[in-house]
Amino acid sequence: MKKNLILLILAMTAFSGHAMAQERLSKYPPSASPDRIILNITRDPATSMAVTWRTDTTIHETLAQVTVNLPTVFLADSASVVSGIYEDIEGDGVVGRFHSVQFTGLTPGTTYAYRVGSGPAVSEWFTFTTAESGEAPFSFIYFGDSQLGSKSLYARVIRQAYRSTPGAAMMLFGGDLVDGGSGSTLHDDEWGDWHAAAGFITSEVPVVAAPGNHEYYDPAERSKRELNRYWRAGFTLPENGPAGLEETAYSVDYQGVRFIIVNSDEMIRNEAFAKSQTDWVETLLKDNLCKWTVAIFHHPVYSTSARRDNTVVRENLKPLFDRYGVDLVLTGHDHTYARGMLEPEESGIKKGQAGTVYVVSVSGSKQYRQDADQWWQAGLTNTQLWQEISVDGNRLAYRAYDASGNLADQFVITRKKNGSKRIDTP
Ligand SMILES: [Fe+2]
Ligand SMILES: [Fe+2]
Repeated sequence: MKKNLILLILAMTAFSGHAMAQERLSKYPPSASPDRIILNITRDPATSMAVTWRTDTTIHETLAQVTVNLPTVFLADSASVVSGIYEDIEGDGVVGRFHSVQFTGLTPGTTYAYRVGSGPAVSEWFTFTTAESGEAPFSFIYFGDSQLGSKSLYARVIRQAYRSTPGAAMMLFGGDLVDGGSGSTLHDDEWGDWHAAAGFITSEVPVVAAPGNHEYYDPAERSKRELNRYWRAGFTLPENGPAGLEETAYSVDYQGVRFIIVNSDEMIRNEAFAKSQTDWVETLLKDNLCKWTVAIFHHPVYSTSARRDNTVVRENLKPLFDRYGVDLVLTGHDHTYARGMLEPEESGIKKGQAGTVYVVSVSGSKQYRQDADQWWQAGLTNTQLWQEISVDGNRLAYRAYDASGNLADQFVITRKKNGSKRIDTP
């Protein structure tokens, strides 16, 4: 009897172990057909574009085709075949083969068609448009943390954003795209959900992404912080930032706007990366021929919670933003919405002049309270949002929309002839 009981316990333990292993199996196994097809911004968006996708390991070559988006059905006849590289990432019971290709030598302001894969395992044709070579009006979209439940609730946000601004030049993500995972537990489902929410949208609108702390978070060992292995495999972002932060800190000039993407997690946790990024940001601001400057990173310069202050980020970056007149700083992490500008004396600028506008936003389901001293002029809680920013000459118009598509906040920055700015909140 006792022996039988021990056997039963052993059998139950084995079964529950099996059940636990089962829980880690992704519901999004790769196949020979490309999926997770992501268009990535490059350092020269007027003449190049990068694309990444996933297959299983039966596909042994990385091939894509690209051609001007002609009306003919015989697109393949005029397409160039471009080869690239792949990398295998294993976790959650799946091995994903992540492919990466760069399209170069493209013509500015031109719409292209592309597809990835080959033979029977080829994607549909997608389209994208290269940037103009100089200053020209355009719009872009920003999303704070999608992070949790992206298939369930963030999906409606990115889809409404796309419907609202179908011609958006790019989609910016301020980190915590997913909740976590590293080692053998990659939480592949979360990445699968993130891609499923966007569908074809991020195959046609290039992504600009900054990593958040949850792209470093290790649920098994919190002190072990390595960049989520899906980041560099699943994106092909620029590598023109400080050494050691490739694809996580970089810059892009797009039609008169300088975008500076900072890896704020490494800034907070690594003194050397704080210094190298601060020096690099100053160089980008000092030698800036663009009329507008937008910085994107995860940890807010000013938090909406008293317990979530990011002094390292503020002490390193705010003096530069003030000195060089950065226009807009887009952040996430606090899971609320706040938009504010400091009093001139707090930014060292003259009275009557406008300084940097700071934004904290969230696109996903995880929501926090606001309990910091109120530095913001507009704020919301328990609300999913996206931002549409339009730049046209001396005018930058910012609109924040909630998940119902209602205008939740807006302002316009007008740059005067003498270089000073005015901010109006209609
Ligand atoms: Fe975060
Ligand atoms: Fe977050």
